Amino acid sequence: MEAMDTKLFFADAAAFATPMLAVFAVDLADGKHADPRPVLLTASGSLAAAAQTLLASGEFKAALGEVALLHAPSALKSDRLLLIGLGKAKDFSLDRVRKGAGTAVRAAKSRSVREMAIAFPDPDAPTDAQIAKFSAPLTARALVEGAAIAEVDYDTYRSDRKDCEVHSLTLIAAETNAAMTREIQRSFDDGLIVAAAQNFTRSLVNEPGNVLTPTVLGARAQAMCDQAGLKCEVHSSSKLQELKMEAFWAVAKGSAEPPALIVMTYEPETAPAAGAPVIGLVGKGITFDTGGISIKPADGMEKMKYDMAGAAAMIGAMHAIARLKPAVKVIAVVCSAENMPDGRACKPGDIVTAMSGTTIEIVNTDAEGRLVLADGLHYAKTLGCTHLIDAATLTGACVVALGVLNAGLFSNDEAACAKFQSALQVSGEKYWRLPSTDDYRDHIESEIADIMNTGKNRYGGAISAAMFLKEFAGDTPWVHLDIAGCAWNEQAKPWIAYGPSGIAVRSIVEWVRSYSA
Ligand code: BES
Ligand code: MN
Ligand code: ZN
Repeated sequence: MEAMDTKLFFADAAAFATPMLAVFAVDLADGKHADPRPVLLTASGSLAAAAQTLLASGEFKAALGEVALLHAPSALKSDRLLLIGLGKAKDFSLDRVRKGAGTAVRAAKSRSVREMAIAFPDPDAPTDAQIAKFSAPLTARALVEGAAIAEVDYDTYRSDRKDCEVHSLTLIAAETNAAMTREIQRSFDDGLIVAAAQNFTRSLVNEPGNVLTPTVLGARAQAMCDQAGLKCEVHSSSKLQELKMEAFWAVAKGSAEPPALIVMTYEPETAPAAGAPVIGLVGKGITFDTGGISIKPADGMEKMKYDMAGAAAMIGAMHAIARLKPAVKVIAVVCSAENMPDGRACKPGDIVTAMSGTTIEIVNTDAEGRLVLADGLHYAKTLGCTHLIDAATLTGACVVALGVLNAGLFSNDEAACAKFQSALQVSGEKYWRLPSTDDYRDHIESEIADIMNTGKNRYGGAISAAMFLKEFAGDTPWVHLDIAGCAWNEQAKPWIAYGPSGIAVRSIVEWVRSYSA
């Protein structure tokens, strides 16, 4: 699945022969009105000298996402020198390094350059500024992930697509001792695996609803598992009936497309000790969400093909987990259906009994994600999961609350939540925690059943949805990710294409690894 051949090399970047060498720059000036003072993040005198005239010209300000290209740079082995702006020196971060690597790759793509190299940033280089320092292994991960994610464009359905693939990328790190070299290499290898998984997730999310039905999603998961050596079962309607998953079935039954209950299992090489954690990944896989009988307005409804992004994140995460082999058992449960209005569709006012025995009044058939997840979360517990995480494009309210830069994070357990937040240090993804304390329970109280599937009013809609899910997590430590605002990039950026983002894969994988024995 790795499209771009990516290598790690320990050498002096100035002496590396390549069609294009990318080097990072930051702006040392602080204060809004100060003149930019761009400086390269390199200790190499030859690189600094090659860029000297351009930097002095004031044309290149080293703003985040800004690029400048020099041909035939003096005293370098490279044919071209590409400067990549990372913004103000004081804002230097791994996130910026990841974006910078992406910007470099996309700059090469748009110029049809097929082969390139990126020099590791050296934060020691500008002597007169305080710049945050990150370990070389974490830097390697940020570089390899940022580059791999940037390489992909979702133009497979365009007949005028131009092949702009970058075939080969070399990341150039400064030479160091053997132990550090091994650590950087390991982190680089992890990054390749995780980025490939994220791109796999994105390719699933990119598919339109007519192509990627629940059945097809099941087949894609099955194919991935066969190739990666994971156990995989794909069930449909009769299994939902057998398991008494009335909540999941209520959503599925309005569609001519049968649902898919996808169960993927990863067993660590050495059998875990008794009482060891078993991690459950639960994904919302609505391959198209019309809203059902509570039908959505036509404007923007086409976007609801990405309502399976949570499911795709779990399938991608399992791909990475199969290759990273953490010492912890992991079970993924994906609940996939199409939410359609039909003579057989569920109706507002219907009451169903979830697999757990909880009765649910379906007030709005457009709040379908929490219905399928209710049975998915409960089922994961019956399979032995001791820790749960779910990802779902669950609520528009979460997008209203947080915009598109942070996804919603909810949890019933401080330890599990803290582990997730530590995972974010490595993944670089952004989540903002919102409350799901018991005092919000009245949001979902029904007059007629145990709970209802919407809040009493529109206030705190993302919290109402989380409270509903929490009911099914029960006492099991649980983390809930509402990725409605972050799963699809409406705006292309210098470091990532328009379309599916693949959010949650990297953080979930890192969270799972934190439970490795
Ligand atoms: N899939 C939607 C949520 C969504 C909205 C995802 C925007 C991505 C972008 C979900 O199934 C939904 O329709 N939620 C409703 C819930 C409401 C009826 C309580 C919503 O957010 O409006
Ligand atoms: Mn909906
Ligand atoms: Zn939905």
